Amino acid sequence: MATTIPSNRAAFTLAEVAQATGGELIGDAGARVVGVTTDSRAVAPGALFVALVGERLDGHAHATAAVAAGAGALLVMRPVAVDAPRVVVRDTTAALAGLARAHRDRWEARGAGRRIVAITGSAGKTTTRRATAALLTEVSRQVHATTGNLNNAVGAPMTLLGLGEEHDTAVLELGTSSPGEIGHLAEMARAHVGVVTLVAAAHTERLGGLDGVATEKGALLRALPTDGAAVFFADDPRVRRLASESPARARVGFGHGDDADVRVIERRVIDPSRSSITLSARGAHLTFELPLLGRAGALAAAAAVAVAVALGHEVPTDEQATRAFSALADGADGRLAATTLGDGSWLLDDSYNANRASMEASLEAASELARASGRRLVLVLGAMLELGALEDGEHAAVADRARGAGPAVVVAVGAPARVIAERCRDSAEVASVDRAADAVPWLARARRAGDVILVKGSRGVGLDAVADALRHGDPT
Ligand SMILES: Nc1ncnc2c1ncn2[C@@H]1O[C@H](COP(=O)(O)OP(=O)(O)OP(=O)(O)O)[C@@H](O)[C@H]1O
Ligand SMILES: [Mg+2]
Repeated sequence: MATTIPSNRAAFTLAEVAQATGGELIGDAGARVVGVTTDSRAVAPGALFVALVGERLDGHAHATAAVAAGAGALLVMRPVAVDAPRVVVRDTTAALAGLARAHRDRWEARGAGRRIVAITGSAGKTTTRRATAALLTEVSRQVHATTGNLNNAVGAPMTLLGLGEEHDTAVLELGTSSPGEIGHLAEMARAHVGVVTLVAAAHTERLGGLDGVATEKGALLRALPTDGAAVFFADDPRVRRLASESPARARVGFGHGDDADVRVIERRVIDPSRSSITLSARGAHLTFELPLLGRAGALAAAAAVAVAVALGHEVPTDEQATRAFSALADGADGRLAATTLGDGSWLLDDSYNANRASMEASLEAASELARASGRRLVLVLGAMLELGALEDGEHAAVADRARGAGPAVVVAVGAPARVIAERCRDSAEVASVDRAADAVPWLARARRAGDVILVKGSRGVGLDAVADALRHGDPT
């Protein structure tokens, strides 16, 4: 599901590139480049080619091809085989952030009221970013937003470089898998509004426990200006503390509790792909239809309303919210996306990824749907990866929730998930398999027409193949 990085028209003189990156210029300081790219195959004539060095690829090997394709200049950290105007830096990834920051700064300076919204969290970033971009567009902002999941040290600066004169708002997704990343991205983005969706056990192998995760996400709120706004998930004391430590004077909490400024007060299943949500915000009530299931969708919508309010907009009307969020119907990409199968079963494909918080949210959503419709619940649950020392405890906690969801059938995929099947053994038909492919024939036997089938696990477990098999007519 890799997303192609969109092209941009960011323009710099080579002197500006050298200044923004702290690099050494070899060539004509006044020469201009238009468009910044990290992919030699995507070079447009006159562009700046940035040679990134990753785990598997080294852009320096493609410098000759980039120049042949018309690159006007190179941003490099090593000698290359081709003679072209270039800026030499110590680290091209850091230099890319420097360029994005310079582009962002001049974009802000050129128009009044231009605003950057940045979103981070252990889950819900993409859902919240899509909801926020849709709602801000509905209230007449000219939004530029992250596409796909381009939230890392390459995707985030490339997104910022796409800001143009036609935009007045950026909605950025910022992701992290190792300590310090959010701090760097936050320094580059210099957001006016920072959003923390959730602090949960994800990437704890590298971030080190929940406190480590909180510190990492908190970097976004710590970097806000005093006249900025911290938008935060108010149900979690850890996240509330992060918001209270932010220098931003405005704080807008969203969640379920009484103290949330934007509060989810009702969530009703309409059908497998739609909910009706009622929020309270600033003393007003707002009811709208949302093409997403479960608390994750409702919280994303609440966060979007909180951002709109933080930017000084009125609480949207019911019609505005329904219209804006209808855009979320497409492109859920394995995030609790509902499909009706040939036999009338409802497949909830949440194979995109999993951690305990998102597992719990999806189990709740699936069990609500099964109960509301009087259908059987079938769970296909894969292991949650990259948890380090928390692995056993997190799987045991999910096992309890899975049992509580009242499934008729449970298939656990991968060794760490085995405990889920064990915990449900006395109340459901269960199986444990090692590979995603092994779940398919087993499911074909155990499932019945009309079931609600939830498929969820870490991306590395590959449960998207199970969802695909169900969608494309498994042999029943
Ligand atoms: N607030 C939430 N609480 C629990 N689970 C959530 C929440 N928001 C989203 N999820 C679930 O988390 C999963 C990923 O959602 P989403 O893609 O929005 O997250 P993300 O943070 O962008 O992920 P990534 O780190 O891959 O970019 C989905 O299964 C979704 O249902
Ligand atoms: Mg994402």
